[in-house]
Amino acid sequence: MEQKIIVAIDGYSSSGKSTMAKALAKTVGYHYVDSGAMYRAVTLFAMRHGMIAPDGTVDSNALEADLPKIHITFATDTDGSQVTELNGEVVEQEIRGLGVADHVSAVAAIGAVRDRLTALQREMGVKKGIVMDGRDIGTTVFPQAEMKVFVQASPEVRARRRWLELAGKGQNVSYQEVLDNVRERDRIDTTRAISPLRKAADALELDNDHLTMEEQMQWLLGKFQEIAGGKN
Ligand code: CDP
Repeated sequence: MEQKIIVAIDGYSSSGKSTMAKALAKTVGYHYVDSGAMYRAVTLFAMRHGMIAPDGTVDSNALEADLPKIHITFATDTDGSQVTELNGEVVEQEIRGLGVADHVSAVAAIGAVRDRLTALQREMGVKKGIVMDGRDIGTTVFPQAEMKVFVQASPEVRARRRWLELAGKGQNVSYQEVLDNVRERDRIDTTRAISPLRKAADALELDNDHLTMEEQMQWLLGKFQEIAGGKN
């Protein structure tokens, strides 16, 4: 019987990680987990509970105290897509907006938040057969993952993709606002003290500036078959 593996996909914001992670999981029959959605849901909780000051400072003590009250789950929508729930409420749309994106990297830099979400993510991978995407999956959450991918693309290409995605969802934001957000999150994510975004030494690199979604998927599936197939 084929042995299941863990696939860790990390990379910069809007690099297309989620799309490729989801597609791979669907194709090979694995479970997909969007770790960024979990950081986004915690951020939404903090915003709703007045824990983020107008200048963007996060009240980390209050948030840490309330962490046991935050329950994040994933449900399946009628069209088969995965939706994020915060304490039982579907928050999928709300967590994808620029409001949450503006604060998520500050929330994700808090040690207690990372400890809690990392523990939850590890539990989700106990049985393997999982594709998880994020910033620290190959470095911190699953350093033993059999397959690790690090995705890169230029900030401009990433901002354009995200801007088109948000515009398609009817959100009225400018390309410049999205580019600023992408750059600022890159900065915070790569320079934070705990689990900063970086390529794991044993991760495969994918620079997708000039790749179509299809070319990217072919590359990913090829690597998966090499690695998981070798486990037969
Ligand atoms: O969708 P996008 O690639 O822009 O971001 P995301 O995957 O939804 O992650 C949102 C934010 O959560 C990131 O900018 C990080 O600050 C944080 N994050 C993290 O710190 N660690 C992870 N494993 C996943 C996300």
